[in-house]
Parts: sequence; C-alpha cells; structure tokens
Amino acid sequence: MEFRIGDCSSLELAKIYGTPLYVYDKIMILQRIKELKEAFPNVQICYAVKANSNPEILKLIAAEGLGADCSNRIELEYARRAGFDMSKCIFTSVNPKNEDLEKALELDVLINLDDISIFKRLVKIGTPDKICFRINPGFGKGKFPGIVVGGHGTKFGMNEDLTLEAFKLAKSFGVKRFGIHMMTGSCVLNEEYFEELTLVIQDIVERLEKTLDIKFESIDIGGGLGVPYEKHERKLNLKSIGDKISIIYKHPAKLIMEPGRFIVAESGTLLTEVTTIKNNFIGIDAGMSTLLRPALYGAYHPIILANNTEAEFVQEINIVGPICENTDFFAKNRAMPKINEGDILAIQVVGAYGFVMASQYNGILRPAEVLVEHSEHKLIRERELI
Ligand code: LLP
Repeated sequence: MEFRIGDCSSLELAKIYGTPLYVYDKIMILQRIKELKEAFPNVQICYAVKANSNPEILKLIAAEGLGADCSNRIELEYARRAGFDMSKCIFTSVNPKNEDLEKALELDVLINLDDISIFKRLVKIGTPDKICFRINPGFGKGKFPGIVVGGHGTKFGMNEDLTLEAFKLAKSFGVKRFGIHMMTGSCVLNEEYFEELTLVIQDIVERLEKTLDIKFESIDIGGGLGVPYEKHERKLNLKSIGDKISIIYKHPAKLIMEPGRFIVAESGTLLTEVTTIKNNFIGIDAGMSTLLRPALYGAYHPIILANNTEAEFVQEINIVGPICENTDFFAKNRAMPKINEGDILAIQVVGAYGFVMASQYNGILRPAEVLVEHSEHKLIRERELI
C-alpha cells in the first residue's frame, strides 16, 4: 500500500512539489489542539512558536484561540502577523537584545525575563505593568541531554533566591502584576512529571507570595509534552495529566502551558527521494541541513518506504544524506524493506523542530512545505532557490 498523508498520495505530492518536502496534515494539528483543550479546559495554552513557525500553521493555531510563546522579536512579529491575540502571548527570552524588549513592550505581551540584569535594561526602555520571571527549579527532564533546560549549570532562569530579588526589584519599580514561569525540558513522556512541576511551582509561589506580599496572576509550567517517536514509546494520556493537575492546582492564578512539539510534531512528514544505493548505505536527497535532529541529538525518526508501506523488512541498513559529514545520517542499522534508487522514503514525526532547524549547509537549500487537508494540498512555503 502506498503511504498517504491525509487523503493525499505521498508519491503524487513528491512528484508535484519535488523532494525533499515537508508535508503537514492540518487535521492532525487541529486534533491535537482539541485534545489539549479538552484535557486542560482551564489552562491557557500558548503554542511555542519555535517548534514550527510556518505562517500558515501559525495562522491556523491562532484561529483556534491559542496564545503564543515567542522567544524574540522575530517570533513576536510572526505571532502578530498570524493573528494571535497578543494579550495571550508571552515573550520568553534568553539573552534578549534591547530590540527584542522594545518589541515586546510595543506589542504589550507578557514579558518573561530570566535575569535581574535584563529587568534593569528593560526599565530603561519602559516599565510594563506586569512582569514575569523565569525560575530554574534546579532540576529538569527531557529526552536528550541537549533539551533538558532546567537544572544546575544550565543558562536558563534564576534560582529561587535570585527570583525573589527580581520580584523585589520589580515591585520597587512600581510593577503591580506578576507572573512566574518555569520550563525545565522537552519531550517528556512521563505523565507524573507534569503534576510534579505543578506542585513544585505552587510551593515556590506560596513562599514568594508570603515573603513579597504579592499575588501572582499567572503561573506557567512551560512546554515539554512529549510525543512518541519510537515503537516502544506510548502517547501521553493528556486527560489523565489534565485531571490530576486540576485536582492539585489550588492557586487562583491563571495556569499557562506552552506546548510546541505536542501540537505539530506528528502532523509532519519529510518526503525524500533515494538517490544512491551503495554497500550498506542508502543515500537520500535530504541531509542534516534538512532535518537536524538525528545529527544533533541522535534522535530517532520512523522511516517508511512510501511506495509500499507493507513491504517486508529484508535488510538492516544506514540511511544517510548528501552532506560531507559523518553526522549526516537519518538511521543506523535500521530494518528496512528492499529499496531502489528513485524510491520515496517518508521520515515521520518531523512537524516540530524540523523545518525550523533547517539550514543551507553544504548548498542543500531549504525544502518546500505543503499543508494537506483531507484530499486538498497547498504549498505553504516555496522551495528555496539559489
Ligand atoms: N516554552 C519555552 C520557553 C521553550 O523554550 C520551549 C522549547 C517550549 C515552550 C516548547 O517545548 P515543547 O513543548 O516543544 O517541548 N530542538 C529540540 C527541542 C528544543 C526545545 C526548546 N524549548 C528538539 O528538536 O527536540
């Protein structure tokens, strides 16, 4: 059987738009948003723009009423253009430039800072009426070391003592409304972890509110909801996470979550053509510049033969790109069916941190992106040309 995306033939898409090609299934994105809304009815969901910032995808997420989490002025501008309600958007910066702070002030989004020095810079430009600080609780969790962002020795957030100082300073500058934020890691498939985060931040909030004599208006536990990439991994039971959080969360402040991966990852497929078969290597026309995750983290992505999804596995083979580096691989010793030159492979679960991390390295220009809705398909980003 041929691999289909929505109701579209993957082979036809590859023929029409060329390869390598990112294809997203709109219905799947909408489905994931629905699941989040149902599981977390009282939580403000702010989509992490960094996961996939294609303008059409941002538009469809904005139209669902979600907020956005943006890391700099460019992502803020993407969110504004896509029609996100700015009152539901957060600017979570790391080492921002003054231009980023100016943009956040101009768009009047919730400003979330991860150091006192940045607050001092901000007030020279303008003082917002509400401020949020990012606390690093001293631990984190994520699928790969590179995506654990909480914990000692990471560059993110402040410890509790510094966070307290930051709020004190903000109060002394006349800031009256406060939020607190935590983001400890990405791609977590452990359901209890999200409860743990909620409990930890509630305790912190209790201590800070007592010492500072303030009330928080928003408490943000960040993103991190994982999706299964590998056969042994199971989909998160969102409903169970949502139910448990709603029981343990007692604070009147608005609870915020910033999922990126969960919303878009599974909707995305990278179609690529087999160019070369050499010894135990299958060479394809996508490289680490097209999809960086395997090279950067050793990430596993399912890969199927798009022309025949049921073909029997007959070999264990390496799947590699056209770039002059040993890190330019997609799979090592992967069980695959017989593959011929000209076949189309579908690399799956690439909707998050796929195209957004693509580069032009080695002259492999960035691919096109297509959005599928049932049997309709449209180009949502032109293939990059020299
Ligand atoms: N909020 C903040 C402040 C973040 O830094 C991130 C991701 C998110 C939300 C969304 O996290 P998610 O729900 O997607 O886990 N390039 C890596 C992922 C890095 C994530 C960095 N921060 C990858 O390919 O796996």
